[in-house]
Formats: sequence, C-alpha cells, structure tokens
Amino acid sequence: MMKTSRRRLPQVRRAEKRMSDSSGFSPVANVADIPEGAMKCVAVDRRRVVIARVDGRFHAFSDICGHRNAPLSRGTLTGHVVECPLHFAQFDIRDGRLVDGPVSADIPVYEVRVADDTVFIRHLL
Ligand code: FES
Repeated sequence: MMKTSRRRLPQVRRAEKRMSDSSGFSPVANVADIPEGAMKCVAVDRRRVVIARVDGRFHAFSDICGHRNAPLSRGTLTGHVVECPLHFAQFDIRDGRLVDGPVSADIPVYEVRVADDTVFIRHLL
C-alpha cells in the first residue's frame, strides 16, 4: 500500500476510499512519482509490484522474474518491454507475456486505474 500522507487532499482521500472499497483497487503511487519511461517498485499485500509509465499510460506487473527471481524493477525498460537484469529475459509489460529469454512463464500483471493523481492497481491473474 502507498504510504498515507497527512497532507493528502480530501478529494484524493475520497477517490482512494471509493476505489479501494468497491472495486478491489489499491492505491500504490502518486502520478508525479513515476515520470515517463520510468519504473517504480511498490509493495502491495506483501508482493513486490512494478509500476511503469509508457506513452503516458501506467502498467503494473510483478517485480519477480520467474527464472531466478531477479527484480525486474532493476532491469531495463525499452518501450513496453522490460528486460531482466540477471539473464536478460524480456517481458511485455502490457500483458506480462514472455518475449524472449531463458524462462517459459509469463509474469503476473495488474489492472491499473488513475484517479485524482493517484495510481491504483488490482490483481488480474
Ligand atoms: S532471473 Fe530473470 S532471466 Fe534469469
């Protein structure tokens, strides 16, 4: 979960409550914390999840490479493809699909919504 700020605006708190209560979405980051082309690792329900911003859209996927558990957030993001820093497996961050590499499994992805400058995610798989 994203750290709660005492200075959070009331409309942001209302959006967080609405999204969390009714739809299973959890607030994970502020939009301004993730510039275009960047990745940020967050913890959600004790899972490491990467939030990435590409072409103005946010994507969320597991931080753990299925090969040897390397942190994908320390890899390289090129367009919609993240490359593992350890043995260079590549995954499409839009659907978690394996593009290339020494692993046979895709990575889990999360549904993303943005409301009131806050990024929310919900587990898809
Ligand atoms: S740990 Fe990611 S490809 Fe080996």
